[in-house]
Amino acid sequence: MCGIVGYIGQEDTKEILLNGLEKLEYRGYDSAGIATLNGGVNVSKVKGRIATLREAVDENIHSTLGIGHTRWATHGAPSEENAHPHQSSTGRFTIVHNGVIENYVDVRDEYLTDVEMKSETDTEIIVQLIEVLNSELQDVAAAFRKAVNLLSGSYAIALIDAQDEETIYVAKNKSPLLVGLGEDFNVVASDSMAALHVTDQFLELMDKETVTLRRNEVVIEDPNGEIMSREPFTAELDATDIEKGTYPHFMLKEIDEQPFVIRKIIQKYQDENDDIKLAPEIREAMRNCDRIYIIAAGTSYHAGLLGKQFIEKLANIPVEVHVASEFSYNMPLLSENPLFVYISQSGETADSRSVLVQTKELGHPALTITNVPGSTLSRESDYTMHLHAGPEIAVASTKAYTAQMAVLAILAVDTARAKDIKLDFDPMKELGIVANAMEALTDQKEAIEDLASEYLPTTRNCFFIGRGVDFYVGLEGSLKLKEISYIQAEGFAGGELKHGTIALIEEGTPVVALATQENVNYSIRGNVQEVEARGANSLIISMKGLDKEGDAFVIPHVHDLLTPLVSVVPLQLISYYAALHRDCDVDKPRNLAKSVTVE
Ligand code: F6R
Repeated sequence: MCGIVGYIGQEDTKEILLNGLEKLEYRGYDSAGIATLNGGVNVSKVKGRIATLREAVDENIHSTLGIGHTRWATHGAPSEENAHPHQSSTGRFTIVHNGVIENYVDVRDEYLTDVEMKSETDTEIIVQLIEVLNSELQDVAAAFRKAVNLLSGSYAIALIDAQDEETIYVAKNKSPLLVGLGEDFNVVASDSMAALHVTDQFLELMDKETVTLRRNEVVIEDPNGEIMSREPFTAELDATDIEKGTYPHFMLKEIDEQPFVIRKIIQKYQDENDDIKLAPEIREAMRNCDRIYIIAAGTSYHAGLLGKQFIEKLANIPVEVHVASEFSYNMPLLSENPLFVYISQSGETADSRSVLVQTKELGHPALTITNVPGSTLSRESDYTMHLHAGPEIAVASTKAYTAQMAVLAILAVDTARAKDIKLDFDPMKELGIVANAMEALTDQKEAIEDLASEYLPTTRNCFFIGRGVDFYVGLEGSLKLKEISYIQAEGFAGGELKHGTIALIEEGTPVVALATQENVNYSIRGNVQEVEARGANSLIISMKGLDKEGDAFVIPHVHDLLTPLVSVVPLQLISYYAALHRDCDVDKPRNLAKSVTVE
């Protein structure tokens, strides 16, 4: 959450910063700002999007050094005053920050009682502290290092000094930050996407490191001031991967990409003998554990619920699935040889990372399944499986969810084979069928758009029901709908309705029922009768072979275990069109951000 970018070089920095911030906007978009330095600091900041910031930036200011920020508010409401960059009292120091300073009240009360704050943010105390420490130490680098050592919490920081046009000071703890290297310039950014337009060479930074960034020099120091050497890596992304192309929204593009992602996963996880290609250490870790604990949030948690089905049914290992933000307080009794599996599109989710730190301290091995292999969760885990979904930019996750399920299914089959369990299930063949089925569905957008306009144009709420795996897909369908269309949507187990929820059904309440499982087809249709008898406007999504006359939508036939990868596609599209018809900002829904890097 929040994105930061900084540049020092030869080019005019405004466009580089604005372009970088546009790429980081998925991290937060309630306010934004840039500061440039050229014989004095010039700050432009606005409440709103980067497009608004663009209009506010003075065209006539030229500078070759600057920092920028796009915000997801934590401390203080979205406003111009709380937007970054923030400045120290004299205006000498200017800062952008991503993260949360947990001890900001203590720092303020101990060091800054004489300073009048201009914003409600935790960030302002950092820049004010640096000014106070610098007036004592008369050494900016030392004041910067001392200030960050006094902070606890998460931060990715870039600081400029009005009296020094040669340097950007950078620090990182827990929040993601990379340095990008160029000829006669260097950049700093929350992720590589923000700097791909200028370089593909990046340096990873470790927690608690500080960096002095100059045009031709990058000096990385550990908290004791020891200089660290670091080899650059080449970002694998192509700049065109992060463009919308002809699509009106990233979400629609990403929904359409799902068949290709599934085929790519098949290709990446299959060797020349058609066996599963997986690091032997992962296979061993899976084989040796006595219980798996899946940790994830949001959509990734929903993929985890289905991962449990795959692993338990195919590989015969007990699995627990936990919401990351709850795990630390409600830690279950652990088995003797647990394996922790972290599922995260971004690999940066702070709630999951905090569990990872805790379980690593307990000495338990960790496997991360992520779309971003160099991400924090991936770096800090023992093993990583890559989703190969390509950058997911829309805030609502779609292709990462189906990729997570595909990778989990492959992992489950590989483990079963390693344990000599005989299976009548060829995952690559079945996933190939899934990819074709997804394609057939994404070709039926008009029919799905009609359903969205028939059932959801003005409704206040909507329910999703299902049994077995269909229940879990319903949870995901309801999350998609609520986050982008703001319709209050909830997913329920069909059998639970009579135990309370049915009280919510009124005349015309939309109820989406999933019926893709033979063993519960009869019962879920019974639940539909019950809600209809109470006035619900129901819509059944079934699978070919189990369908009945009157079903609103029939998905092509795929293997029982893998129906969730296919049945979710119409739900994603229904949400997309419902949001579109309600004039909602599909890719950047209110109050949200793509990468949740605060707990
Ligand atoms: C919903 C959505 C979120 C994320 C959640 C975890 O569409 O995208 O619920 O799934 O914030 O994020 P990751 O997977 O990056 O850990």
